[in-house]
Amino acid sequence: MVVPESQEKMYYPPVELQRNAHVPDFNSYLVMYKKSLENPEAFWREVADEFFWKKPATGPMLQHNFDMTKGNIFVNCMEGAKTNMCYNVLDRHVKEGKLGEKVAYYWEGNSPDHHMTITYRQLLSHVCRCANVLKQMGVKRGDRVSIYLPMIPELIVTMLACARIGAVHSIVVRKVTFNHPMPRDKGQDKVLCVYGVYRGEKLINLKQISDEALEKCREKLLLVMGLSPWNMNPKMYKSCIKSIIQDMQVSSQRDVWWDEVMRDSPDECEPEWMDAEDPLFILYTSGSTGKPKGVVHTVAGYLLYTSLTFRYVFDHHPDDVYWCTADIGWITGHSYITYGPLANGATSVLFEGLPVHPHVGRFWEIIEKYKVTKFYTAPTAIRLAEHQILGTVGEPINPEAWRWYHEVVGQGRCPVVDTFWQTETGGHVLTPLPAATPLKPGSATFPFFGVEPAILNEHGEELEGVTEGYLVFRKPWPGIMRTIYKNQELFENTYFRKFPGFYVTGDGCRRDKDGYYWITGRIDDMLNVSGHLMSTAEVEAALMLHQSVSEAAVVSRPHKVKGECLYCFVTLKDSKEFNCKLVEDLKRLVREKIGPIATPDFIQNAPALPKTRSGKIMRRILRQIARNEKDLGDLSTLADPKVVEVLFNQRSEAA
Ligand code: PRX
Repeated sequence: MVVPESQEKMYYPPVELQRNAHVPDFNSYLVMYKKSLENPEAFWREVADEFFWKKPATGPMLQHNFDMTKGNIFVNCMEGAKTNMCYNVLDRHVKEGKLGEKVAYYWEGNSPDHHMTITYRQLLSHVCRCANVLKQMGVKRGDRVSIYLPMIPELIVTMLACARIGAVHSIVVRKVTFNHPMPRDKGQDKVLCVYGVYRGEKLINLKQISDEALEKCREKLLLVMGLSPWNMNPKMYKSCIKSIIQDMQVSSQRDVWWDEVMRDSPDECEPEWMDAEDPLFILYTSGSTGKPKGVVHTVAGYLLYTSLTFRYVFDHHPDDVYWCTADIGWITGHSYITYGPLANGATSVLFEGLPVHPHVGRFWEIIEKYKVTKFYTAPTAIRLAEHQILGTVGEPINPEAWRWYHEVVGQGRCPVVDTFWQTETGGHVLTPLPAATPLKPGSATFPFFGVEPAILNEHGEELEGVTEGYLVFRKPWPGIMRTIYKNQELFENTYFRKFPGFYVTGDGCRRDKDGYYWITGRIDDMLNVSGHLMSTAEVEAALMLHQSVSEAAVVSRPHKVKGECLYCFVTLKDSKEFNCKLVEDLKRLVREKIGPIATPDFIQNAPALPKTRSGKIMRRILRQIARNEKDLGDLSTLADPKVVEVLFNQRSEAA
């Protein structure tokens, strides 16, 4: 890695920011980075010293094996240590750090009229009460608790309550409905859910969705939360309840009401002292075969890593107001709404609603309202904003949006940190540091402390200098995943089999002459739509559930807001007709089975699919047809080259 000398347009950190920054310049970054690789023991021990350990570690800070040929893959952080995540992110601040009255979250509801402030002390009290409720319901250390909640304070309360009593939380992402993998596993899940929530104008009955899931597994205890009065004004609350309650079935043995049980629950609860490597949570992520994988993160390593990345990547200071717009159901929310910010005693905004409800300037209005100083969002939201701004030419643009655009984008005094990471990595792994790293738009720049990237070719040979290939990591950092829930074999095969000795990200990557890393996208059958990964297999399986469809193939196509969108080819059974109704039905089916994010943008009739002689679908060709790229290169491996022409001819009919 070299200090950048490139002539191309670089964006240098603003001097005002450098004065007070944790890592004030590029040289400081290099010095710290070097230390983190050369002496990881000292580096991570210093990070750990800030936290509370009921028992100190007896083993080294990090041990690992990344080489399948030498035995099982493992990562072990701080063997022998005992601690509690919840204690470290709440009690420590309230009891030792005197942050009890500091705001932990400004909660902003779906409607701008609904908001509340939660201090660290209040959060701790709610968490303890909820922890006692969970215990009352029979949840014990090591049990899995599935949580199905919108972005309301109760979600954070239940996560931390689990962490407090040593239960493993598994948050059900709302992209998934009744076919989510979690309730299908016969585990010891207890399910918590809310029974209704507004997204924009739309009322979503989560209780009903959970009931469907529960019916399939029949073994669960469900805690139904009332739509919290935090969440609604009384009039809305009443009408909402009325509309849901009609078709809701409450089981007296299974369903418990949040408001009732929380009221009577004591607000003190001794934390369960966990082993450093005990699981903290499971989070499902798309697998390239279509079957989601339960990524497991553990207590101590995840605490160290999310807390450190949060502090440095957002250059956090005590008077900051930080806002991450992600959903907590995704890893971004776990690491950078709940654990990372709380570990630092930060003040965050927690937003329940949509960026465009009740108007397009909602994001910027919230930034104004809470004087947000650090804002973390997805490219898709930025593109949406740009799109809106460009799209409003010729009519007044609301002042909030304008001010934001002018001050933040226009004056260019806010560094943009493009953070590359994955559910599996637990936290940022390639990222600029705002006061230290000169930026190149589109590059995630350099590795975070303790992270050692390499670029390999297909044969597993390491490529030096300016190059492009597979992005891998040579060593673990504390926050890396430990396994796939109940499937160590899949864990090893997915991430370690291809190149022994390395963690394989599944992403392609380029390194330029200044040593900057550029992610080039997935190199497996995964799609990234609006920042959400899904597998082609997952969508194809959903399409094939339709009785008219005999075969389906899905590829990505660039999209100006979503990044990528879905382009689906469907082959129909004999005598079935391709028409608008079918297209609508198929779109609805995918929506229902996977979620709105997966709704296909294009569905094309494919009388046949391009296949190799061995019957493998040639997705490369389909991708080119979807993008209308006529230069198809070598087609000699195709069983029937005529198929391609037919598909090009039918392109215009794609709806
Ligand atoms: O392909 C990369 C892309 O998102 C994938 C990880 O998705 P997920 O596990 O859902 O986690 C998303 C939130 C961290 C990666 O394999 N990705 C993530 N960050 C970037 C990125 N692609 C380009 N640039 C990034 N900054």
